[in-house]
Amino acid sequence: MSIKICPSMLSADPTKLGRELMDVENAGANAIHWDIMDGNFVEAITFGSRVISAHRKLTALRFDVHLMVRNPDSHLENFAMAGADAIIIHAEACDHLHRTLSRIKNFGKKAGIAFNPATPIDAVKYCFGIFDVILIMGVNPGSSGQTFIESSVKKISEMRQIVPAHVEICVDGGITAETVGKCAGADSFVSGSYIFGSNNYSLAIETLRINSR
Ligand code: DX5
Ligand code: ZN
Repeated sequence: MSIKICPSMLSADPTKLGRELMDVENAGANAIHWDIMDGNFVEAITFGSRVISAHRKLTALRFDVHLMVRNPDSHLENFAMAGADAIIIHAEACDHLHRTLSRIKNFGKKAGIAFNPATPIDAVKYCFGIFDVILIMGVNPGSSGQTFIESSVKKISEMRQIVPAHVEICVDGGITAETVGKCAGADSFVSGSYIFGSNNYSLAIETLRINSR
């Protein structure tokens, strides 16, 4: 797999999300990452499914919907219908992880499991066949612009040894020109503040891609 760079719309200018999305697409983004926060699993509240469906019309790029919400099951249909291509749920927020992943697959979407920095990863061993993406958090979820937590590096390589080669391992949080190169075993990277905080999105995306090798 060639490395994918996935800008997080959380760090885009909220007064011009559509323009920002098209700018990162033109700058070489491989997917768009939507951080959905419910004010409960994490403190912040961000985007609802209407925001996703409105932007769906602007691009054919993959939409990854990262649900940082309690009780994700009650939101799956809305985000599936809104045009998500992949729906990623948190292992910590699911009482019935296996069932929730199966529901995502039944909507015809790629299913992903996100792991917070302190969460062990053993659960993946018992869910083979019903997930396509693993999201290793490089920070505790809730906001952009945090510092990368170094223990994530070991977790990425451990995960690479456990999951089948076709499963995409994505790292989310704290990714910069310096940290991206530490993440051996990852296939894709989410980046919020590094890309949207730069004044040249193409250069930022290309730098992440080059430094990840
Ligand atoms: C964190 C979110 C991330 C965040 C990444 O809760 O899941 O996607 O937007 O932002 P940076 O790249 O700034 O750490
Ligand atoms: Zn995210």
